[in-house]
Amino acid sequence: MCGIIGVLGDHEVAPLLVETLKRLEYRGYDSAGIATVNNGVLDRRRATGKLVNLSDLLVHNPLAGKAGIGHTRWATHGAATTGNAHPHSCGPVTVVHNGIIENFRELRAMLANHGLTPSTETDTETVAMLAAHHMAQGMTAREAVKATVAALHGAFALLFLFQGQEDLMIAARKGSPLAIGYGKGEMFVGSDAIALAPMTDRVTYLEEGDIAFVTRSGVEIIDENHAHANRDIVRIEASATLIDKRGHKHFMTKEIHEQPTVVAEALGRYAPSGLPSFPDRLDFTQIDRVVMVACGTGYYSCLTAKYWFEQVAGIPCEVDVASEFRYREPPVTPRTLALFVSQSGETADTLAALRYMKDKAAIVASLVNVGTSSIAREADLALAILAGIEVSVASTKAYTNQLTILALLAVHAARQRGHISDAAARAHVIDLMGLPDLMRQALALEPQIARIAEDLAPAPSILFLGRGVMYPTALEAALKLKELSYIHAEAYASGELKHGPIALIDRTLPVVVFAPHDRLFEKTVSNMQEVLARHGLVTLITDATGAALASEGTAAQLILPTASELCAPILYALPAQLIAYHAAMAKGTDIDQPRNLAKSVTVE
Ligand code: F6R
Repeated sequence: MCGIIGVLGDHEVAPLLVETLKRLEYRGYDSAGIATVNNGVLDRRRATGKLVNLSDLLVHNPLAGKAGIGHTRWATHGAATTGNAHPHSCGPVTVVHNGIIENFRELRAMLANHGLTPSTETDTETVAMLAAHHMAQGMTAREAVKATVAALHGAFALLFLFQGQEDLMIAARKGSPLAIGYGKGEMFVGSDAIALAPMTDRVTYLEEGDIAFVTRSGVEIIDENHAHANRDIVRIEASATLIDKRGHKHFMTKEIHEQPTVVAEALGRYAPSGLPSFPDRLDFTQIDRVVMVACGTGYYSCLTAKYWFEQVAGIPCEVDVASEFRYREPPVTPRTLALFVSQSGETADTLAALRYMKDKAAIVASLVNVGTSSIAREADLALAILAGIEVSVASTKAYTNQLTILALLAVHAARQRGHISDAAARAHVIDLMGLPDLMRQALALEPQIARIAEDLAPAPSILFLGRGVMYPTALEAALKLKELSYIHAEAYASGELKHGPIALIDRTLPVVVFAPHDRLFEKTVSNMQEVLARHGLVTLITDATGAALASEGTAAQLILPTASELCAPILYALPAQLIAYHAAMAKGTDIDQPRNLAKSVTVE
């Protein structure tokens, strides 16, 4: 969500702040702003829409100063207007914020009693007002921030800058990550390592409740009890080049095409010698039930894995979206593995669900792409997704790597529980090892998939159908299409068609059917026939055997290489992604940063 950068530099900071905000664009935003302190004076520039609007503003109305903070805002409280854009200022204080201040209404009421009234609709402005109020009562900037943070409820990352203080930024973390970066005589604060990568490779990640007082000569950190805290300096790998498009038009297509490589890396890590290999703590002889929790695309990878845990390993498995799970307060039996799946590792609902399961489940594990994230750190055990940095807001390579690792985990569980023999486990791994090659073959079909997508793009609504492991694939295909092309799409388990959605079928509704020639093929094809009988426009995605048996009457077919039930949902994700990508190209939407979306959803 919102991106944060702060610099105490030895050059003019405005260009660096804007350049860094550009690197944070991938998080999703609808306005941006920067503030500097120059000759003691705080000033700011803010603009709605893309960063180019802020850059244009700065050309006509430059901002001098060697100390500054910047922000990309994803609106939560108040519309995406210039007035609501960060930084928010009050008296000698200016602040940028990621997250939500839940008690801002109560704080506003309290501040109104002291004659302070807000000029924006945001929760963030209340933070600046409260700190300014404390300073007006005689507190120093440091004391004011400590008192302010102590009064805030919610999840947030905050970065403050002060009138008259050109060598001080104060950062506070509760719920949303922040990293301090070390330069030569310069210091930085960023909402993630990607922000800081061009400036430094040495960072300190703040812990929950930390407040950091940053000056050009270093940082002093206090913990939630205001005691002095020593935090490690770590080297980050996220080099500037890692977030390059490498000749692709969009990050999304680059990431789609990286999938054979990163899937191979995941297979190498989790099955190095032909059998699945996971940390000893994941002992499935001690587990009777798996509970998986995630959001969005991660939820669909869990739904797919449910079929595998149940069918391959014979272990009961429940899957829930995190926003429902966290408030349902489900009873937890002791021999439960709770597994939280998240690309970013910062999704607020998934993190809250993880905290609910702590001390209840036998083991709380996470499958996370960002190793330094909260969900990775708070789990008893974190498995790395190994997809590399995913910049496009729509998740692609993280999804297929989640699936690959979950398939191996299900085989591992099956073997440990004696549900399958070692030989059968090895056969599954050999099967999965074929995935990178199958994926390359599927990617070679991109021109054909692009034509299918262009034909689908004018439709106002599209239906996706699938059975078994192809049902979550259909759900993922509908989600990708919606978020990228803004075409309305729905997905159903094809057996559900005649329980309602069949009423939608007519000559105008495109229906995309995922039907590899597996044991449910005949059943899926029967449902497809029901669509064809009502003149529905069917695109059939299948393999050569399926196409030979069921192409008649369909408007289009896509023939993928033959794949097993473990490999098929991973392989069929590729045409799902490419249909969404090329439909979005045809519609001219903003592919890497679709409207209203954020890469890391740090508010519930
Ligand atoms: C869709 C997408 C989202 C995320 C969801 C969870 O393409 O990317 O649906 O999957 O917001 O995010 P993470 O996996 O970071 O917890």
